[in-house]
Amino acid sequence: MTDSTLKLGDKDYPVRKGSVGPEVVDIRKFYAQSGMFTYDPGFTSTASCESGLTYIDGDAGVLLHRGYPIDQLAEQSSFMEVAYLLLNHELPSKDELDKFSYTISRHTMLHEQLAQFYRGFRRDAHPMAIMCGVVGALSAFYHDSTDITDPQQRMIASHRLIAKMPTIAAMAYKYSVGQPFLYPDNSLSYTGNFLRMTFGVPAEEYVVDPVVEAAMDKIFILHADHEQNASTSTVRLAGSSGANPFACIAAGIACLWGPAHGGANEAALNMLREIGRPERIPEYIARAKNKDDPFRLMGFGHRVYKNFDPRAKVLSKAASDVLDSLGINDPVLDTARELERIALSDPYFIDKKLYPNVDFYSGVILSAIGFPTTMFTVLFALARTVGWVAQWNEMISDPDQKIGRPRQLYTGPTQRDYVPVSQR
Ligand code: CMC
Repeated sequence: MTDSTLKLGDKDYPVRKGSVGPEVVDIRKFYAQSGMFTYDPGFTSTASCESGLTYIDGDAGVLLHRGYPIDQLAEQSSFMEVAYLLLNHELPSKDELDKFSYTISRHTMLHEQLAQFYRGFRRDAHPMAIMCGVVGALSAFYHDSTDITDPQQRMIASHRLIAKMPTIAAMAYKYSVGQPFLYPDNSLSYTGNFLRMTFGVPAEEYVVDPVVEAAMDKIFILHADHEQNASTSTVRLAGSSGANPFACIAAGIACLWGPAHGGANEAALNMLREIGRPERIPEYIARAKNKDDPFRLMGFGHRVYKNFDPRAKVLSKAASDVLDSLGINDPVLDTARELERIALSDPYFIDKKLYPNVDFYSGVILSAIGFPTTMFTVLFALARTVGWVAQWNEMISDPDQKIGRPRQLYTGPTQRDYVPVSQR
């Protein structure tokens, strides 16, 4: 909806209103009309697309998926239901949810040949390296769902990706610990099946612990989507060229791996372990504040949340619940709580509006469940696949969609003549 205009130079540009949130100046004709580009490294003020999936108000600490607050979804819904919501716009009826869960469960197996891929990796390979490779390789196996102009094929590819990620992730884990791969068990829930494939062994029956299953499902919900973050923008950018969905999601996984993004959960727990005990916290706070030290408090700060991260609130409580019910007394949780307390009363963190983010407490829970830190970002990728495919589908269906092609402010040499090496 265009309500008003903004004058830039001698031209008026339309200002568009979303359903909620800041208005957006439509500058698509700006270069053609003014001969100038806009400059926004890191996209701090740029809306790269129109989207109806997820809304964030960073100042108020609000995160909505299709209008539903994240805390309500995390407390009352299931990951399958949230996946349906993100993909299909509305919450499902009971029948729709059953059908969707059944469809996903029918795609959980991997082509048998894919198991050979794992054997090409070193046993000590980081599981995110395996994820990038194996997910990218899916496009070599599922040719019948790579025609992105066919909505049916797009939906099949989306279902395949959501369904196969737990299998791929669990196999990456199994490979690293030298245990046999387990085939999916479709009688279990999405999350229960993942836990069994990860922690079960063929010699014994695996009984899914409902407390662990519920905590894991909650973590999946909290990571399902997050507006136009770096990895989602990567998926959209890759997809804008017409690349197939498996390649696009592999690109998203590669981006997510970075420690400023999904890799922060691994880095946060490593940091908490390194701190070790609450008495050492001041030393780390001092390092985080020191401009000459590149150290940052991992799991703190967010590009968008400048009040609190609503996902961190849910996880802070879940961390205590899970550790209590598993009977684990991990000093890392005490260190985390004390670090949060000290940081949140320190003027540096208050002034810069740095609060714990989703990654601060998730590692404590995942570690209590039994995951090694190297698997943390893999679990993030598993959950975020839902958001990636939903955003990718939305983009492909958008008639305004063009190939993503940013411009630049060029500051290199101007034209000069080549000098042969003998004369240099
Ligand atoms: N510890 C210490 N100082 C920090 C931190 C931190 N974790 N985060 C930001 N700052 C400071 C930063 O030094 C800068 O100070 P100054 O203005 O004096 O130069 C100021 O706060 C603003 O930081 P920025 O890097 O310009 O902010 P950004 O919006 O570009 O970065 C961020 C956001 C999440 C990358 C950053 O806060 C960070 O590196 N945090 C640690 C990594 C982390 O936890 N990432 C997970 C994000 S949530 C999950 C996800 O989305 O994947």
